[in-house]
Amino acid sequence: MTKYYLSALIRKLGLIQVLDKLRFYIQYILTSKARNNFFKAHPYLKLPPPYFLYETYNLNYESFYKNGSETAKWLADYFKKHKKLENVNILDWGCGPGRVIRHLPDYIDKSCNIYGTDYNEKYVKWCQMNLSDIKFIKNELAPPLKYENNFFDIIYGISIFTHLSKDMHYQWFNELLRVLKPNGILFLTLHGDAFKIKLTESEQKMYTSGQVVIKSNTKEGHRTYGAFHPDKFVHELIGNNKILEHVKGGVKNGMPQQDVWIIGKVV
Ligand SMILES: C[S@@+](CC[C@H](N)C(=O)[O-])C[C@H]1O[C@@H](n2cnc3c(N)ncnc32)[C@H](O)[C@@H]1O
Repeated sequence: MTKYYLSALIRKLGLIQVLDKLRFYIQYILTSKARNNFFKAHPYLKLPPPYFLYETYNLNYESFYKNGSETAKWLADYFKKHKKLENVNILDWGCGPGRVIRHLPDYIDKSCNIYGTDYNEKYVKWCQMNLSDIKFIKNELAPPLKYENNFFDIIYGISIFTHLSKDMHYQWFNELLRVLKPNGILFLTLHGDAFKIKLTESEQKMYTSGQVVIKSNTKEGHRTYGAFHPDKFVHELIGNNKILEHVKGGVKNGMPQQDVWIIGKVV
């Protein structure tokens, strides 16, 4: 039995979050030396508690900080291809404890306004208290967002739809478009073909037929809740809006990478 079948069984029994918590404690112990070394080397950096990192990324402070900065630059480079980054409103939907958004000001013009939102109140509070010059608010699991129509030039969501139900995909896609300006861009990362290896045989069949695959029986929005997105499903979701770029995720250091979808709002 592969580990994916074992985890499917544990999920069926309703124990996937218990297993995930156990995994956290093991990692917490295994990473304690590296964590303390990082804290000592960077005494003035504002850093979220270990469980926040584990739940949204992985329990490695060095990579949380370094990769967060690299990702912010990577994003800004994508945005620049489609928008002039001056005086624009940018939203990080599902910002978590600020891994990427905290670095974004380093790579874009000071005239830009940056906003962050997440459904996890603890992350939003941590961001509000620790990251200045960025406006954070909490949203609920389901829409709406507390912004007016056509407010943002750019919205990005890094690995958010990857933790939502099928129904929530449609609700959130419409809501993100509501707050996006005409010709605004929506940047999403999704679990594409590179993640097929994480599916059981019956899930792979579903995926190959073009249906979104949902691994549920746990709290929606949590890291243990998974959604997998074949191209056909994403095309249906996007509808008449314009696909500006679709970059397929490969496999890097043995790890599958998410697909990038950049969508232009068509009115
Ligand atoms: C895998 S983490 C990614 C966090 C962050 N984007 C990053 O790249 O570090 C997924 C994030 O989505 C958030 N999330 C899940 N469902 C959400 C929803 N309906 N609305 C907003 N945020 C949500 C979670 O709280 C979590 O912070």
